[in-house]
Amino acid sequence: MDDVRLDFGNMMAPLLTGGVDPGAFSGELAEAFARAHGAVESSRSAGVLGFLDLPYAQETVSQVKQLAEGFGQWFEDVVVLGIGGSGLGAKALKEALLGLYWNDMSAEARDHFPRLHVVDNPDPSTMQGLLARLDPARTLFNVISKSGATAETMAQYLVVRDVVEHAVGAGHARGHFLFTTDPTQGVLRRIGDAEEIPMLPVPENVGGRFSVLSPVGLLPAAVCGIDIDALLAGAARMEGRCRSDRLSENPAGVLATLLHRADTVWGRPIHVLMPYSDRLRSLGLWFQQLWAESLGKARTLTGEARPTGPTPVAALGATDQHSFLQLLMEGPHDKVVVFIDVEDHGVDTPIPNRHPEMPELSYLGDHTLGELINTERRATAEALRLEGRPNATFFVSRVSAGTLGELLMLLQVATVYAGALYGVNPLDQPGVELSKRLTYGLMGRAGADPPSFPEDEGRWRV
Ligand code: PA5
Repeated sequence: MDDVRLDFGNMMAPLLTGGVDPGAFSGELAEAFARAHGAVESSRSAGVLGFLDLPYAQETVSQVKQLAEGFGQWFEDVVVLGIGGSGLGAKALKEALLGLYWNDMSAEARDHFPRLHVVDNPDPSTMQGLLARLDPARTLFNVISKSGATAETMAQYLVVRDVVEHAVGAGHARGHFLFTTDPTQGVLRRIGDAEEIPMLPVPENVGGRFSVLSPVGLLPAAVCGIDIDALLAGAARMEGRCRSDRLSENPAGVLATLLHRADTVWGRPIHVLMPYSDRLRSLGLWFQQLWAESLGKARTLTGEARPTGPTPVAALGATDQHSFLQLLMEGPHDKVVVFIDVEDHGVDTPIPNRHPEMPELSYLGDHTLGELINTERRATAEALRLEGRPNATFFVSRVSAGTLGELLMLLQVATVYAGALYGVNPLDQPGVELSKRLTYGLMGRAGADPPSFPEDEGRWRV
């Protein structure tokens, strides 16, 4: 059966010089984790951790399937407009489960499922480039914004709404939109209600970066034929494994505990997630947002001013062995690397033994690219260990809907455990408000004061 396992031997003594003492692992760390687990269970009981219930939200899943299998299939292209937690999950699912070339494949090769584009930045050149390639008359725009007020997403909506109206006429334009938003409030819901645009809910107790297993990620996945039942079954399996308050049985607990320990005791606040699989590159970016926005806080839960938070970095193996590894091996001792090893890549490419007379090349012959990339992961983990650099590895049997569901759930649960260990609220993001307010003021939103920037702004340019 497909599964995900975390190997953390290279964080432990005596394998890692200076690593976690096994006695501490089953002693003080296990006790600290049990307390964090208790705090997370209290939050679960208080109903604020809605993401834990998503694998079991059958009614919503039926709604998603109905729209994805019916309405969604009328189109050749589906465009997700969403940013942060409203875009990164769909991107990670798409790349992991459809591969990097889905949109370049023929309709037959795609089993006639639509192409999928995730546009998560209001960059005019990206928008123009995409619109030039699309036929708006055959495109569905899935506008995803829980708040329904996010400037980037709503600006994109206003742009494409005009384009669609121009292409199909004002009377037919609403048939090219699907909104995913708050179940009861917000501008997007108001527009959807007024125009009878199909809508899917983001549950009230599910925040953006914890929403990948809600309609935010499920609809774009299902519309392209991804098996969302298998995805949710994988997430449910992992959610079940993470119910244990015993550290040694709980993979999310182990990840959170070791990374928290690395930051607060070893002075290693930089946490690198490094999949050895192109398909999982966007999973790294999704995790980067999850870890950063959830744990980077100015205040603790008790209100004490104490800037907190590790710095996540999304890397990619083996590519970044030629850009980042030098720093990981010899730079400051401030990092932990978490690798993802895909045991079976699903396909493999034999390497021909074309130059048996050249030892510089012949050692590669009769191996495969899959063997090479996995061997490089193994060698890099060992090289780091030999240098006293802590690292751990997720072994993923293969990239499937099930294993991705497991990984997504594991990383989300680890994030709320880490929140409890750091003593911060992982569900809010007060730090993003100021730049939003300044933007509103500069863009002339009613009620927002135009900010006055220091007069000498720009004088120190060269
Ligand atoms: O995790 C978060 O809360 C954020 O990254 C949001 O997802 C992001 O700001 C987009 O918000 P919204 O869905 O309201 O447009």
